[in-house]
Amino acid sequence: MLEVEGLSAWYGASHALQSVAFGVAEGEILCLLGRNGAGKTTTLKAIMGLMPRRAGSVRFRGEEVLQRPPEARFHLGLAYVPEERRIVPGLTVRENLRLGLIAARNRQDEARALDRIAETFPRLRERLDQQASTMSGGEQQMLAIARALMAEPRLLMLDEPSEGIMPVLVDEMFDLFARLRRDGTTLLLVEQNVELALNLADRAVVLDQGEVVHRAAAAELLADAEVQARYCAV
Ligand SMILES: Nc1ncnc2c1ncn2[C@@H]1O[C@H](COP(=O)(O)OP(=O)(O)O)[C@@H](O)[C@H]1O
Ligand SMILES: [Mg+2]
Repeated sequence: MLEVEGLSAWYGASHALQSVAFGVAEGEILCLLGRNGAGKTTTLKAIMGLMPRRAGSVRFRGEEVLQRPPEARFHLGLAYVPEERRIVPGLTVRENLRLGLIAARNRQDEARALDRIAETFPRLRERLDQQASTMSGGEQQMLAIARALMAEPRLLMLDEPSEGIMPVLVDEMFDLFARLRRDGTTLLLVEQNVELALNLADRAVVLDQGEVVHRAAAAELLADAEVQARYCAV
């Protein structure tokens, strides 16, 4: 579904990603791991077209998208929930969700999309007309994920979705990810919570200093305390 090859990216003169390569197969959950500063966020941004200086190849469903504008990816079914939850605090939950349809691949019926999301996120259903800023950090993160799902993406990329969220919501979120996979959504997940991520994911790619240093089945990496200690400890 997604094939990344020779992906490089720069912040000014600083070479943040060096020829990163990995693939994500349809229907799987791939987790991208690595210490702080390893290049995980930069990888997602480069895939999304948000790094001004980038090189290499990103093919999504057979199409080369690296040098195309970010919107082109939405239309093909690629969605991204960044680290800093960019919900609009002054808008209601419903209005935030509506924004998720703007770049949708198929301009579906808004009411139908809202019904579907409300069913998936009971916590949001009760709060559709509440101002987004009045919700907890975890609920805002759920809203950011729900907004991305409004457009029914084929591949959803999430950057540290569980960060700073209370455990009960993290469990809910990971249950949601498992359900999304079951329903056919492919996930590329960046996580600091290594054990939780590896218990959910099918495969893992580990980054260090902007390079891929390890690729493995999630279960295999879960059992590999040495690699985890070397590359995944925060
Ligand atoms: N806006 C920026 N300007 C300059 N350097 C940056 C910027 N953002 C990240 N970096 C650097 O790029 C490298 C990779 O960062 P990042 O992708 O955010 O890592 P991770 O998400 O794995 O913690 C780090 O060395 C970081 O300091
Ligand atoms: Mg990051």
